[in-house]
Amino acid sequence: MSVHIAAKKGEIAKIVLQPGDPLRAKYIADNFLTDVKLVSQTRNIFYFTGLYNGKEISVGASGMGIPSIGIYSFELFTEYEVDTIIRIGTCGAYTTDLKLFEVLNVENAASESTYGKFAWGFEEELLPSQGSSFNLINETAKDLSLEIKSTNIHTSDIFYRKDEGIPAIAEKYNCSAVEMEAFALFANAKYLRKNAAAILTVSDVIPTQEQISADQREKALKTMIELALQSALKM
Ligand code: HPA
Repeated sequence: MSVHIAAKKGEIAKIVLQPGDPLRAKYIADNFLTDVKLVSQTRNIFYFTGLYNGKEISVGASGMGIPSIGIYSFELFTEYEVDTIIRIGTCGAYTTDLKLFEVLNVENAASESTYGKFAWGFEEELLPSQGSSFNLINETAKDLSLEIKSTNIHTSDIFYRKDEGIPAIAEKYNCSAVEMEAFALFANAKYLRKNAAAILTVSDVIPTQEQISADQREKALKTMIELALQSALKM
């Protein structure tokens, strides 16, 4: 048991898929895993452990934003000896070069956040995915004939902002899309020498204000979930 996760030691697998939303974690457990056990429901942040093609995998939510994923990923890595966390989430495209439903493999996350600095003394504003998981995801996508894009993304602390246009940090690091968690996950994994990746589905295109509707979301995320699970088999 950790401060925010009620699972007993040994009840969480070495590899964890981490969506933002607890109900998405439940959807994955219900539809993709067998022999599923609910191992934590503290704060309704559900964690499940089950089998995928015979391999033990856990799935549980990060919540939204850097502080939340910072807490959950830290406790998973340090209290449950998790080796790999794959974030699976949605993002907003900064450019019309990306289309709704496109799947991105995050190479680097850029952020104005001071999380890395004050948690671990990292001065960088750009952090790469950690370990071999990024490459394994690209290889798995190839094996499955899935077209995905490797890209840099912006991890923002802000969802609603007054200024339209692409934030300076996203321009600086050529970030094609924005989300709110990957940078903190990569920072924790870097400090703790663990593996971390982020696979994102484009849920909105900011310049055109196109969005995936709420009922399209579940189906839309299927490709990303299957890619994460198939990649996890190799990790
Ligand atoms: N901003 C931040 N995070 C997001 C967005 C966005 O537009 N869309 C999906 N996650």
